[in-house]
Amino acid sequence: MVDNKPAQAKAFIKSFFSGDFQPDTLQAYSHWILPALLDAEEAQWESFASRWLSDLRANKPIQYIFQKAFFGEIELQVNEFTLIPRPETEELCQLMKNHYQSSTDSHQLLDLGTGSGCIPLLLKKYFPKWYINGIDIQKGAIDIAIQNSINLQLEVDFKVQDLLEIQNLNNNLNILTSNPPYISEFEKLNINENVLNFEPHIALFVKDKNPLIFYKKIANLAERKIGKLDIWLEINSLLSNETADLFKKIGATKIITDYSGNPRFIFCSKQK
Ligand SMILES: C[S@@+](CC[C@H](N)C(=O)[O-])C[C@H]1O[C@@H](n2cnc3c(N)ncnc32)[C@H](O)[C@@H]1O
Repeated sequence: MVDNKPAQAKAFIKSFFSGDFQPDTLQAYSHWILPALLDAEEAQWESFASRWLSDLRANKPIQYIFQKAFFGEIELQVNEFTLIPRPETEELCQLMKNHYQSSTDSHQLLDLGTGSGCIPLLLKKYFPKWYINGIDIQKGAIDIAIQNSINLQLEVDFKVQDLLEIQNLNNNLNILTSNPPYISEFEKLNINENVLNFEPHIALFVKDKNPLIFYKKIANLAERKIGKLDIWLEINSLLSNETADLFKKIGATKIITDYSGNPRFIFCSKQK
């Protein structure tokens, strides 16, 4: 007998969600929605789909509904403690992949403000021999990062730590990455409701009076560290020059634009 459950599930989704699907949810459709229905009894479809639809209509990001997000070649768990990893951050990892692909050295990397662990985990996939750590101030985020490391079988050490309280960087470290909170409170007016209402504000916002607080701390730590260090940062494009100025005294510093043409990343290479 031919199993026509997949065809029925597809038809059900199409009619139930008609008009509510955005193109960016199509990946979710084949990876999360359809499999969830196929795992369930047909009698449950309507109640599952009603819940998803009311969440979507309340502007809840689909990644939080299914507690999953794609990031490059990996799929991560996310929850209310973690930011949904952004395409720009994926770009940062691609830049690093291109930069180090011909290097045979075994590098030691620390990611500051790691959230779901997206940056260190994708880099570990690209560079299995690297020794990689990630820290975050939120225990809820580190729990998810550890779970992601287990699920993906990518060995990265994660721990709870306040970046602003770090005294010194380990001298063996030779790559630092960070996508710290960088949106000023005055920019909140331009932020979409789905971000404001659902994403953790501690991951996004900094005080208007000190918007570069995290970059200043990172520059200070980097300056005092002995030996070579590559620093890769995602930045607020409105403050690209001011952010780059913090690193110019440390080493050759360049601002890199993202695919949308905005100044979005800084690479600083400290020689000693
Ligand atoms: C913009 S999110 C980036 C998360 C993740 N790296 C990504 O790219 O999706 C900033 C992260 O910094 C963390 N954070 C905020 N304040 C911090 C602090 N003082 N020390 C360490 N982490 C902090 C937040 O919990 C959040 O996970």
